[in-house]
Amino acid sequence: MINFFTQVSFKNNRNIPSDSSKQNPHVNPNEFGCDLFSAAFERDKSEINSNSHKNISPQCVHYTYFFRNVETLNFVADYIEENFKNGTNIADFGCSYGQEAYTLAMLIKKHNSDKKYKITGYDIQPDTIKIAQKGHYKLGGYGHEIFLLDQTADSNDLIGNLKQLFNESFNQASTNNFDTRVNDVYTLKPDVFDGVVDFKHGDISDIGHNLNLDHNTGVVIFKNAWYHLTGYVKYIDPKNVNFTIVDDVTREINKSLPENGLLVVGQLARDHIYDIDKPVRKIVQNEKIINVYDSSPFHDILIKNGFVPVFYEKSDVREGAYLPSVWKKTNSVSKF
Ligand SMILES: C[S@@+](CC[C@H](N)C(=O)[O-])C[C@H]1O[C@@H](n2cnc3c(N)ncnc32)[C@H](O)[C@@H]1O
Repeated sequence: MINFFTQVSFKNNRNIPSDSSKQNPHVNPNEFGCDLFSAAFERDKSEINSNSHKNISPQCVHYTYFFRNVETLNFVADYIEENFKNGTNIADFGCSYGQEAYTLAMLIKKHNSDKKYKITGYDIQPDTIKIAQKGHYKLGGYGHEIFLLDQTADSNDLIGNLKQLFNESFNQASTNNFDTRVNDVYTLKPDVFDGVVDFKHGDISDIGHNLNLDHNTGVVIFKNAWYHLTGYVKYIDPKNVNFTIVDDVTREINKSLPENGLLVVGQLARDHIYDIDKPVRKIVQNEKIINVYDSSPFHDILIKNGFVPVFYEKSDVREGAYLPSVWKKTNSVSKF
């Protein structure tokens, strides 16, 4: 058992703990992480090579897991329930195998019996979409997935809450039907997210075309994936980053969202071009004082293109520093 429980401090409506993103020391990352579906990953690598103009990193291209960035997604769930009471569409770009779309669907399920919130997962690589459409998952060894697998975790209310959400939507399956080496295979329960979650092939760079600019989409997610667009760079070295593409894409996202719509970008330092040497400022979030960093060139472009940060999640690399993971479209942008 890792020391996750001592880190739990997050308070919110669903009583959801923060994602420690810690790796289970007993799990081999090659088996459970990047290599989640090894055959698919091999195919992806050749596709990446033939798509090198897209700057897709060959490292962990589709890496994802259930309840990743759960604090951020929980903020999004609360926000849409409050601000889009009549419903809205959520476009989840870079959805990979679909765990992210299903995580959000689980978090809003209680308030979505009339299916007014619809989530469409898009990924640039068609093979990941095919896997997402199947709804078969092997749980990995990262973040909250560790606790979904942990038989003792039910004793903790917070983890029990996530487990309950997961078990309401997924069944443990017999491995005989799947090409996998482990027993922890889960399938989506029949009908549970019919008419709520679907998946399509799509590139965030074509967001205008994908969403028809009809302003029916209140939330755009492109999370832990910006480095695919900007080029795979070290977070402390913004020299070779393609900022033009960030500018173009965020301008298009702004056009596609209604006023007060959300853009969700995650908390990867390399996405945020997080300069570790710069000082951070303090803000109050959820009644707690936190150190935030929100003045990188990436953040400046988001502000220029009409967004303000509304939620911060812990950086993946620097203890105690938070990065702006959720941004709101607003007409009256000023430097905060
Ligand atoms: C590291 S995964 C992140 C998955 C998930 N968003 C998460 O946070 O766990 C990045 C995904 O973005 C996809 N991707 C990369 N560039 C993209 C683009 N231009 N449009 C849509 N998806 C893209 C990749 O194929 C990959 O599946």
